[in-house]
Amino acid sequence: MVHMQVPFYRHSLSPENAQLVAKVLETPFLTSGPIGKEVEGQLCEYFDVKYAKLVNSWTNGAVATLLAMDIGPGDEVIVPAMTFIATANVVELVGAKPVFIDCDPETLLITPELIKGAITKKTKAIIPVHMYGQMCDVKAIKDMLPKDQRIFIIEDCAHTFEAKFNGERPGKYSDAAIFSFYATKNVTCGEGGAIITNDEDLFERIIQAILHGMSAGAADRFKAGQYKHWGMEHLGTKANLPDLLACFLPEQIRTVDSRLKERETIAQTYESALKNTKIICPIKLDNIVHSRHLFPIHVGSQNRDKVLLTLGESNIGATVNYRAVHSMSYYSKKYGYQENDFPISFSWGNGTLSIPLFPGMTTAEQDYVIDVLVNKIDKMIGEDN
Ligand SMILES: Cc1ncc(COP(=O)(O)O)c(C=O)c1O
Repeated sequence: MVHMQVPFYRHSLSPENAQLVAKVLETPFLTSGPIGKEVEGQLCEYFDVKYAKLVNSWTNGAVATLLAMDIGPGDEVIVPAMTFIATANVVELVGAKPVFIDCDPETLLITPELIKGAITKKTKAIIPVHMYGQMCDVKAIKDMLPKDQRIFIIEDCAHTFEAKFNGERPGKYSDAAIFSFYATKNVTCGEGGAIITNDEDLFERIIQAILHGMSAGAADRFKAGQYKHWGMEHLGTKANLPDLLACFLPEQIRTVDSRLKERETIAQTYESALKNTKIICPIKLDNIVHSRHLFPIHVGSQNRDKVLLTLGESNIGATVNYRAVHSMSYYSKKYGYQENDFPISFSWGNGTLSIPLFPGMTTAEQDYVIDVLVNKIDKMIGEDN
């Protein structure tokens, strides 16, 4: 076995991108300005939606969106137990209650049936998460919702940019879809995100909510010679993305689909290499384009930490996506959740880890990871995974 070092993730932004920042510095706009507007136009075109707003993280964008929907104390928001903590934390941050649900055992996605069982009169929103880059069936979720109760759908697209479900991209059936441009995401500017929607009234509220609740943004306030006073009707936060970061996005959005091909090839190579092992991969549905953001595997709860150690000793980067959110002590203490309340999420979360997958990963790097998985890890795993 050839020994080498394979990082969990390697970004593809070359030092030449520093010129993009230099260009921003030549303009008066250090914060949100013309480059942000250009990217928002690209997003509207790519997702075929009417409105897009850049934000400085998924998390802050989601807080602003929940505020814009007037969701707060006394309200419930349905979230998956199998997701990153941020999906639930934003609900807590606006004072509402996250109501967890379990997921499908093969795809790790939430389903309309699981959501249905959690709806109460207090339910104000659902946040389906397109886990690992594979989309939930948002149309089926929308069709299932009670017609006599306004329940918002907010898609968590942190793992998704390029994905499609039945040929349709995020944003079509939901009230809003929110993306993350965090350092390891398929499209990145270090920290950042975006909100897309087709709802004009909601968009107006979101624009205010990401700028403290102010009724007019900087560009409107300082229009040619006449200062315009602003008011504040609703509470907001501060979540806009500066052009100093937005400048990394236009080229990545233009080329995102070509990089997806690379991700898909790497993912399929893993899938066929692991087919005859005891290592389990989530099922990829037939009717979807997968964003292939992460490549999680399941090795069993009795093996997971040993496998992480072995990968570490073999100089292979790995991480865990995710231990179930309801089992985090903050949530179990506050709401009295027991570990096995959502058994699929809990058991997946205790036995999973994610292996390296990024555009630019070399064949030699992937061969090495596969070699370690097949010839070392598979042999460590008992027959019971
Ligand atoms: C599923 C999911 N939702 C939300 C987030 C939060 O994104 P951000 O770091 O941009 O706030 C992440 C980040 O990794 C995530 O994986």
